[in-house]
Amino acid sequence: MKKEILLSGIKATGDMHIDNYFGALKQWVDLQYEYEQVFIFIPDYHSIISIQDRDKLNQLIFDTAVNLLAVGIDPKKVTLYKQSDVPCHTEATWIFNCLTTMPQLMRGHAFKDSEAKSKEVSVGLFDYPVLQAADILLYDATIVPVGEDQAQHIEMARDIARKFNNTYGETFVEPQALIKKEVGTVIGSDGRKMSKSYKNQLALFATEDETTKYIKGIAMDSKSIDEKKNPQDYPLYDIAKLFVTADQDKELRAMFENGGVGYGDIKMYVAELINNYLRPMRTKREELLKNPNKIKKIIAQGGKRASKIAIKKMDEVREKVGLIL
Ligand code: TYM
Repeated sequence: MKKEILLSGIKATGDMHIDNYFGALKQWVDLQYEYEQVFIFIPDYHSIISIQDRDKLNQLIFDTAVNLLAVGIDPKKVTLYKQSDVPCHTEATWIFNCLTTMPQLMRGHAFKDSEAKSKEVSVGLFDYPVLQAADILLYDATIVPVGEDQAQHIEMARDIARKFNNTYGETFVEPQALIKKEVGTVIGSDGRKMSKSYKNQLALFATEDETTKYIKGIAMDSKSIDEKKNPQDYPLYDIAKLFVTADQDKELRAMFENGGVGYGDIKMYVAELINNYLRPMRTKREELLKNPNKIKKIIAQGGKRASKIAIKKMDEVREKVGLIL
Protein backbone atom coordinates (compact mmCIF):
# COMPACT_ATOMS: atom_id res chain seq x y z
CA MET A 1 0.00 0.00 0.00
CA LYS A 2 1.27 3.47 -0.91
CA LYS A 3 2.32 5.68 1.98
CA GLU A 4 1.32 8.89 0.22
CA ILE A 5 -1.76 10.77 1.36
CA LEU A 6 -4.54 11.09 -1.17
CA LEU A 7 -7.15 13.84 -0.85
CA SER A 8 -9.85 15.28 -3.07
CA GLY A 9 -13.24 16.95 -2.95
CA ILE A 10 -16.38 17.60 -4.91
CA LYS A 11 -18.64 20.61 -4.43
CA ALA A 12 -22.26 20.29 -3.50
CA THR A 13 -23.69 22.36 -6.32
CA GLY A 14 -26.28 20.10 -7.93
CA ASP A 15 -26.63 16.75 -9.57
CA MET A 16 -23.49 14.76 -10.08
CA HIS A 17 -22.69 14.24 -13.72
CA ILE A 18 -20.57 11.81 -15.65
CA ASP A 19 -17.87 14.45 -16.09
CA ASN A 20 -17.33 14.49 -12.33
CA TYR A 21 -17.57 10.73 -12.23
CA PHE A 22 -14.99 9.94 -14.87
CA GLY A 23 -12.86 13.04 -14.25
CA ALA A 24 -12.58 12.45 -10.53
CA LEU A 25 -14.90 10.15 -8.58
CA LYS A 26 -14.05 6.95 -10.42
CA GLN A 27 -10.37 7.53 -9.76
CA TRP A 28 -11.07 7.99 -6.06
CA VAL A 29 -13.01 4.75 -5.95
CA ASP A 30 -10.31 2.93 -7.93
CA LEU A 31 -7.49 4.31 -5.77
CA GLN A 32 -9.05 4.21 -2.30
CA TYR A 33 -7.50 0.87 -1.34
CA GLU A 34 -4.09 1.68 -2.82
CA TYR A 35 -3.22 4.46 -0.41
CA GLU A 36 -2.81 4.18 3.32
CA GLN A 37 -4.64 7.43 4.00
CA VAL A 38 -7.47 8.75 1.84
CA PHE A 39 -9.53 11.88 2.49
CA ILE A 40 -12.59 12.69 0.43
CA PHE A 41 -14.66 15.67 1.43
CA ILE A 42 -17.51 17.93 0.41
CA PRO A 43 -16.29 21.55 0.22
CA ASP A 44 -19.54 23.04 1.42
CA TYR A 45 -18.02 26.41 2.35
CA HIS A 46 -17.03 26.69 -1.31
CA SER A 47 -20.61 25.94 -2.31
CA ILE A 48 -21.92 29.00 -0.43
CA ILE A 49 -20.28 31.12 -3.12
CA SER A 50 -23.01 30.11 -5.54
CA ILE A 51 -25.76 28.67 -3.32
CA GLN A 52 -27.24 31.05 -0.79
CA ASP A 53 -30.47 29.25 -0.09
CA ARG A 54 -30.46 27.39 3.22
CA ASP A 55 -32.68 24.44 2.30
CA LYS A 56 -31.14 24.00 -1.12
CA LEU A 57 -27.58 23.95 0.20
CA ASN A 58 -28.53 21.57 3.00
CA GLN A 59 -30.18 19.17 0.58
CA LEU A 60 -27.26 19.33 -1.86
CA ILE A 61 -24.70 18.54 0.83
CA PHE A 62 -26.76 15.51 1.83
CA ASP A 63 -27.24 14.43 -1.80
CA THR A 64 -23.51 14.72 -2.45
CA ALA A 65 -22.75 12.52 0.55
CA VAL A 66 -25.26 9.91 -0.67
CA ASN A 67 -23.85 10.03 -4.17
CA LEU A 68 -20.27 9.58 -2.99
CA LEU A 69 -21.31 6.46 -1.12
CA ALA A 70 -23.39 5.23 -4.06
CA VAL A 71 -20.48 5.43 -6.50
CA GLY A 72 -18.46 3.27 -4.15
CA ILE A 73 -16.49 5.41 -1.71
CA ASP A 74 -15.95 3.11 1.26
CA PRO A 75 -16.32 5.06 4.53
CA LYS A 76 -14.49 2.31 6.43
CA LYS A 77 -11.38 2.98 4.38
CA VAL A 78 -11.81 6.64 3.49
CA THR A 79 -12.22 9.61 5.81
CA LEU A 80 -15.38 11.04 4.26
CA TYR A 81 -16.46 14.40 5.65
CA LYS A 82 -17.70 17.86 4.94
CA GLN A 83 -15.44 20.86 5.08
CA SER A 84 -17.64 22.87 7.44
CA ASP A 85 -17.25 20.20 10.14
CA VAL A 86 -13.57 21.15 10.28
CA PRO A 87 -13.43 24.91 10.99
CA CYS A 88 -9.62 24.76 10.77
CA HIS A 89 -10.07 25.09 6.99
CA THR A 90 -11.30 28.66 7.33
CA GLU A 91 -8.77 29.49 10.02
CA ALA A 92 -5.90 28.33 7.81
CA THR A 93 -7.43 30.29 4.93
CA TRP A 94 -7.05 33.52 6.87
CA ILE A 95 -3.40 32.89 7.58
CA PHE A 96 -2.80 31.94 3.94
CA ASN A 97 -4.68 35.07 2.83
CA CYS A 98 -2.06 37.13 4.57
CA LEU A 99 0.64 35.44 2.48
CA THR A 100 -1.18 35.59 -0.85
CA THR A 101 -1.22 38.58 -3.14
CA MET A 102 -4.04 40.09 -5.18
CA PRO A 103 -2.26 39.54 -8.53
CA GLN A 104 -1.84 35.83 -7.68
CA LEU A 105 -5.57 35.45 -7.18
CA MET A 106 -6.40 37.66 -10.15
CA ARG A 107 -4.92 34.94 -12.34
CA GLY A 108 -7.53 32.45 -11.05
CA HIS A 109 -9.83 30.96 -13.73
CA ALA A 110 -13.05 31.36 -11.82
CA PHE A 111 -12.26 34.99 -11.05
CA LYS A 112 -11.23 35.77 -14.63
CA ASP A 113 -14.34 34.07 -16.07
CA SER A 114 -16.65 36.05 -13.81
CA GLU A 115 -14.85 39.28 -14.59
CA ALA A 116 -15.03 38.58 -18.34
CA LYS A 117 -18.79 38.12 -18.00
CA SER A 118 -18.96 41.35 -15.98
CA LYS A 119 -20.46 39.40 -13.08
CA GLU A 120 -20.24 40.75 -9.57
CA VAL A 121 -17.34 38.94 -7.89
CA SER A 122 -17.71 38.13 -4.20
CA VAL A 123 -14.68 38.09 -1.93
CA GLY A 124 -15.45 34.38 -1.45
CA LEU A 125 -15.13 33.66 -5.15
CA PHE A 126 -11.93 35.67 -5.35
CA ASP A 127 -10.49 33.79 -2.40
CA TYR A 128 -11.68 30.37 -3.58
CA PRO A 129 -8.19 29.00 -4.37
CA VAL A 130 -6.87 29.92 -0.92
CA LEU A 131 -9.61 27.96 0.84
CA GLN A 132 -8.87 25.09 -1.53
CA ALA A 133 -5.18 25.29 -0.58
CA ALA A 134 -6.17 25.02 3.09
CA ASP A 135 -8.33 21.98 2.27
CA ILE A 136 -5.30 20.22 0.87
CA LEU A 137 -2.40 21.45 2.98
CA LEU A 138 -3.95 20.82 6.40
CA TYR A 139 -3.77 17.09 5.76
CA ASP A 140 -0.27 16.99 4.26
CA ALA A 141 -1.90 15.55 1.14
CA THR A 142 0.61 14.55 -1.50
CA ILE A 143 -1.70 13.33 -4.28
CA VAL A 144 -4.82 15.18 -5.38
CA PRO A 145 -6.75 13.37 -8.12
CA VAL A 146 -8.77 15.93 -10.07
CA GLY A 147 -9.92 16.89 -13.57
CA GLU A 148 -7.83 19.16 -15.77
CA ASP A 149 -9.82 22.27 -14.75
CA GLN A 150 -8.40 22.01 -11.20
CA ALA A 151 -4.74 21.94 -12.22
CA GLN A 152 -4.34 25.66 -11.57
CA HIS A 153 -5.81 25.39 -8.10
CA ILE A 154 -3.38 22.66 -7.13
CA GLU A 155 -0.53 24.78 -8.48
CA MET A 156 -1.72 27.66 -6.29
CA ALA A 157 -1.79 25.34 -3.27
CA ARG A 158 1.82 24.47 -4.01
CA ASP A 159 2.71 28.17 -4.22
CA ILE A 160 1.03 28.85 -0.90
CA ALA A 161 2.78 25.90 0.79
CA ARG A 162 6.12 27.18 -0.50
CA LYS A 163 5.41 30.72 0.64
CA PHE A 164 4.45 29.57 4.11
CA ASN A 165 7.47 27.29 4.40
CA ASN A 166 9.81 30.07 3.26
CA THR A 167 8.29 32.48 5.74
CA TYR A 168 7.89 30.28 8.80
CA GLY A 169 9.96 27.16 8.19
CA GLU A 170 9.16 23.74 6.73
CA THR A 171 5.52 22.99 7.62
CA PHE A 172 3.51 22.03 4.56
CA VAL A 173 3.97 19.42 1.85
CA GLU A 174 3.63 20.55 -1.77
CA PRO A 175 0.82 18.48 -3.27
CA GLN A 176 0.78 16.97 -6.75
CA ALA A 177 -2.28 16.92 -8.99
CA LEU A 178 -3.10 13.52 -10.44
CA ILE A 179 -4.89 14.05 -13.72
CA LYS A 180 -5.86 11.10 -15.86
CA LYS A 181 -5.13 12.10 -19.46
CA GLU A 182 -7.97 10.18 -21.13
CA VAL A 183 -10.59 11.74 -18.88
CA GLY A 184 -8.96 15.08 -18.02
CA THR A 185 -11.76 16.67 -20.03
CA VAL A 186 -14.96 14.71 -20.53
CA ILE A 187 -16.87 15.75 -23.66
CA GLY A 188 -20.60 16.54 -23.65
CA SER A 189 -23.41 15.90 -26.15
CA ASP A 190 -22.47 18.93 -28.26
CA GLY A 191 -18.78 18.04 -28.56
CA ARG A 192 -17.71 20.75 -26.09
CA LYS A 193 -16.35 20.15 -22.60
CA MET A 194 -19.10 18.64 -20.48
CA SER A 195 -20.04 21.49 -18.21
CA LYS A 196 -22.92 23.01 -16.31
CA SER A 197 -22.52 26.26 -18.24
CA TYR A 198 -23.05 24.50 -21.59
CA LYS A 199 -26.08 22.55 -20.36
CA ASN A 200 -24.67 19.45 -22.03
CA GLN A 201 -24.28 17.19 -19.01
CA LEU A 202 -25.52 13.68 -18.40
CA ALA A 203 -26.51 13.17 -14.76
CA LEU A 204 -25.05 10.11 -13.10
CA PHE A 205 -28.32 9.35 -11.34
CA ALA A 206 -30.69 10.21 -14.16
CA THR A 207 -33.40 7.63 -14.85
CA GLU A 208 -32.80 5.13 -17.62
CA ASP A 209 -35.33 6.97 -19.81
CA GLU A 210 -33.60 10.29 -19.23
CA THR A 211 -30.27 8.69 -20.11
CA THR A 212 -31.67 7.26 -23.34
CA LYS A 213 -33.21 10.64 -24.19
CA TYR A 214 -29.84 12.35 -23.66
CA ILE A 215 -28.10 9.89 -25.96
CA LYS A 216 -30.85 10.17 -28.60
CA GLY A 217 -30.42 13.94 -28.52
CA ILE A 218 -26.74 13.91 -29.50
CA ALA A 219 -26.25 15.61 -32.86
CA MET A 220 -24.76 13.42 -35.63
CA ASP A 221 -24.34 14.34 -39.31
CA SER A 222 -26.09 13.65 -42.58
CA LYS A 223 -23.91 10.80 -43.84
CA SER A 224 -25.85 7.87 -45.31
CA ILE A 225 -26.22 4.60 -43.40
CA ASP A 226 -23.81 2.75 -45.68
CA GLU A 227 -20.99 5.28 -45.55
CA LYS A 228 -17.98 4.30 -43.49
CA LYS A 229 -17.39 6.66 -40.57
CA ASN A 230 -14.59 7.50 -38.19
CA PRO A 231 -15.92 7.08 -34.64
CA GLN A 232 -13.55 9.77 -33.36
CA ASP A 233 -15.58 12.38 -35.28
CA TYR A 234 -18.60 11.90 -33.03
CA PRO A 235 -19.25 13.09 -29.48
CA LEU A 236 -21.48 10.00 -29.20
CA TYR A 237 -18.34 7.88 -29.37
CA ASP A 238 -16.41 10.17 -26.98
CA ILE A 239 -19.11 9.61 -24.39
CA ALA A 240 -19.62 5.90 -25.09
CA LYS A 241 -15.88 5.27 -24.86
CA LEU A 242 -15.99 6.07 -21.15
CA PHE A 243 -18.31 3.14 -20.47
CA VAL A 244 -17.21 0.40 -22.82
CA THR A 245 -15.30 -2.79 -22.19
CA ALA A 246 -12.68 -3.70 -24.80
CA ASP A 247 -15.16 -6.02 -26.55
CA GLN A 248 -17.94 -3.46 -26.55
CA ASP A 249 -15.51 -0.90 -27.94
CA LYS A 250 -14.65 -3.21 -30.81
CA GLU A 251 -18.31 -3.81 -31.54
CA LEU A 252 -19.15 -0.11 -31.37
CA ARG A 253 -16.24 0.94 -33.58
CA ALA A 254 -17.29 -1.63 -36.16
CA MET A 255 -20.77 -0.07 -36.35
CA PHE A 256 -19.18 3.24 -37.34
CA GLU A 257 -16.32 1.94 -39.43
CA ASN A 258 -18.14 -0.68 -41.49
CA GLY A 259 -21.25 1.36 -42.16
CA GLY A 260 -24.65 -0.30 -42.50
CA VAL A 261 -25.95 0.58 -39.02
CA GLY A 262 -28.16 3.66 -38.62
CA TYR A 263 -27.38 6.32 -36.01
CA GLY A 264 -30.64 5.47 -34.21
CA ASP A 265 -29.48 1.90 -33.67
CA ILE A 266 -25.98 2.91 -32.62
CA LYS A 267 -27.53 5.28 -30.10
CA MET A 268 -29.77 2.57 -28.67
CA TYR A 269 -26.72 0.33 -28.29
CA VAL A 270 -24.85 3.09 -26.46
CA ALA A 271 -27.81 4.04 -24.25
CA GLU A 272 -28.20 0.43 -23.17
CA LEU A 273 -24.57 -0.04 -22.32
CA ILE A 274 -24.52 3.18 -20.31
CA ASN A 275 -27.64 2.20 -18.40
CA ASN A 276 -26.17 -1.23 -17.69
CA TYR A 277 -22.97 0.36 -16.41
CA LEU A 278 -24.72 2.84 -14.14
CA ARG A 279 -27.51 0.57 -12.87
CA PRO A 280 -25.65 -0.83 -9.80
CA MET A 281 -24.78 2.69 -8.56
CA ARG A 282 -28.30 3.90 -9.16
CA THR A 283 -29.72 0.95 -7.26
CA LYS A 284 -27.28 1.45 -4.40
CA ARG A 285 -28.34 5.08 -4.15
CA GLU A 286 -31.99 4.11 -3.80
CA GLU A 287 -30.99 1.74 -1.01
CA LEU A 288 -28.93 4.37 0.81
CA LEU A 289 -31.76 6.88 0.64
CA LYS A 290 -33.90 4.61 2.80
CA ASN A 291 -31.72 5.41 5.80
CA PRO A 292 -30.74 9.11 5.84
CA ASN A 293 -29.56 9.02 9.44
CA LYS A 294 -26.94 6.46 8.61
CA ILE A 295 -25.52 8.83 5.97
CA LYS A 296 -25.48 11.74 8.41
CA LYS A 297 -23.68 9.58 10.96
CA ILE A 298 -21.01 8.53 8.46
CA ILE A 299 -20.32 12.17 7.56
CA ALA A 300 -20.23 13.26 11.22
CA GLN A 301 -17.76 10.49 12.09
CA GLY A 302 -15.59 11.43 9.13
CA GLY A 303 -15.64 15.04 10.36
CA LYS A 304 -14.37 13.96 13.75
CA ARG A 305 -11.54 11.93 12.25
CA ALA A 306 -10.55 14.75 9.90
CA SER A 307 -10.72 17.34 12.70
CA LYS A 308 -8.18 15.46 14.80
CA ILE A 309 -5.61 15.72 12.03
CA ALA A 310 -6.45 19.28 11.04
CA ILE A 311 -6.42 20.54 14.66
CA LYS A 312 -2.96 19.06 15.17
CA LYS A 313 -1.69 20.75 12.04
CA MET A 314 -3.28 24.07 13.00
CA ASP A 315 -1.61 23.91 16.41
CA GLU A 316 1.71 23.63 14.61
CA VAL A 317 0.76 26.52 12.32
CA ARG A 318 -0.30 28.78 15.22
CA GLU A 319 2.94 28.00 16.96
CA LYS A 320 5.04 28.77 13.89
CA VAL A 321 3.16 31.98 13.13
CA GLY A 322 3.69 33.16 16.71
CA LEU A 323 0.15 33.03 18.01
CA ILE A 324 0.76 30.79 20.99
CA LEU A 325 1.97 32.41 24.21
P1 TYM B 1 -15.88 20.37 -8.74
O1 TYM B 1 -16.82 20.10 -7.62
O2 TYM B 1 -16.27 21.41 -9.74
O3 TYM B 1 -15.61 19.05 -9.55
C1 TYM B 1 -15.24 17.82 -8.90
C2 TYM B 1 -14.22 17.11 -9.76
O4 TYM B 1 -14.72 16.83 -11.06
C3 TYM B 1 -13.79 17.22 -12.05
N1 TYM B 1 -14.47 17.61 -13.32
C4 TYM B 1 -14.14 17.15 -14.54
N2 TYM B 1 -13.19 16.28 -14.92
C5 TYM B 1 -13.08 16.00 -16.25
N3 TYM B 1 -13.88 16.56 -17.22
C6 TYM B 1 -14.85 17.45 -16.89
N4 TYM B 1 -15.63 17.97 -17.86
C7 TYM B 1 -15.00 17.79 -15.49
N5 TYM B 1 -15.84 18.62 -14.78
C8 TYM B 1 -15.49 18.49 -13.47
C9 TYM B 1 -13.08 18.41 -11.43
O5 TYM B 1 -11.84 18.63 -12.01
C10 TYM B 1 -12.96 17.97 -9.99
O6 TYM B 1 -11.81 17.18 -9.80
N6 TYM B 1 -12.49 23.23 -6.61
C11 TYM B 1 -12.97 21.87 -6.67
C12 TYM B 1 -13.43 21.32 -5.34
C13 TYM B 1 -12.39 21.37 -4.28
C14 TYM B 1 -11.24 20.55 -4.20
C15 TYM B 1 -10.58 20.96 -3.02
C16 TYM B 1 -10.74 19.53 -5.01
C17 TYM B 1 -12.37 22.21 -3.20
N7 TYM B 1 -11.30 21.96 -2.45
C18 TYM B 1 -9.37 20.35 -2.63
C19 TYM B 1 -9.54 18.92 -4.61
C20 TYM B 1 -8.87 19.34 -3.43
C21 TYM B 1 -14.14 21.86 -7.62
O7 TYM B 1 -14.80 22.85 -7.81
O8 TYM B 1 -14.43 20.67 -8.16
